Amino acid sequence: MKKVTLKDIAEKVGVSKATVSMVLNNKDINVSESTRDKILKTVKELNYIPNSVARSLSTNKSNTIGIILPDIENSFFSEVARAIEDVASSSNYNVIFCNTDNKKEKEEQYIKLLISKLVDGIIFLTGAYSSDNIKILKSNNIPFVLVDRYVENPKEVNGVYCLNEKGVELGMDYLLNKGKKRIAFVTGPMNLNISKQRLQGYINAMTKANLYNEDFVFEGDFTTDGGIDLTKEILKSNIKLDAIFYGNDAMALGGIKVLIREGYKIPEDISVMGFDNVKISSFIQPELTTVSQPIYDMGRAACTLLIDSIDDKTINKQIYFQPELVIRDTV
Ligand code: RIB
Repeated sequence: MKKVTLKDIAEKVGVSKATVSMVLNNKDINVSESTRDKILKTVKELNYIPNSVARSLSTNKSNTIGIILPDIENSFFSEVARAIEDVASSSNYNVIFCNTDNKKEKEEQYIKLLISKLVDGIIFLTGAYSSDNIKILKSNNIPFVLVDRYVENPKEVNGVYCLNEKGVELGMDYLLNKGKKRIAFVTGPMNLNISKQRLQGYINAMTKANLYNEDFVFEGDFTTDGGIDLTKEILKSNIKLDAIFYGNDAMALGGIKVLIREGYKIPEDISVMGFDNVKISSFIQPELTTVSQPIYDMGRAACTLLIDSIDDKTINKQIYFQPELVIRDTV
């Protein structure tokens, strides 16, 4: 069956295509109420869907934004996306989601695709930080906002972030005050600035307490499967530990699964700390003690900033959110 066109509506009602188009675009023209009603009724009857590309070309606005995410399976990102979608839809914007699997090439491909689809702006959570991709965004003069993942010079781009180093220091203070000394730290991928910032928080706290030992640092990948594999490795290494601080909740959830399977009681035998405070952290047993990022607020702020910068391309703003300790059962 062929797609319903403007011409079909015009022919059925007996008016010109221009009249149908103007009625659909709410243009103030001299059309009688009954003709207007007929046109709208026919549009509904035939399920006519206007060509938004043609409209974007003529208005230079698509009322669509793109969100580029590194890993849709990680609930941190779906919680950010939820907030972005809430703000976007209440401001009359549609959203296109793109998942990159942390791959630079996929990021580049999606940035180009979104720009070619004439989106009004992009929210970018990079999983493979590359200045080349930031350059593509900048040279196309498309408004964009980074969330969560820092670039080298954050002042040069609009962004919404959490204070990662401070967050890990908060978690470490809590562990140290509880008398934990042999604390391992599982980082995120070390090509990401946030992983370096979180590791720095750990090093600061352990050095201050005179306990820093680089053998207690393990490089993870921010995924639950990675948390599972690395925890098995940590246990195999036979390093005696009081606690494991995972650089995000997803890895902590994998770690808890392994520790419990191996017969550890949490927190009696070993404590576990996470980072993020994704919703599921409070639904597992034992409930995860973690450092919270205000995930929903970060997503909401990012979308608001993007919409503002679509309207005013001169905006240059960075927003920093404070982390907080959430005490539950694993320490
Ligand atoms: O869980 C995903 C992690 O990567 C989060 O900690 C978030 O900060 C992101 O960068």
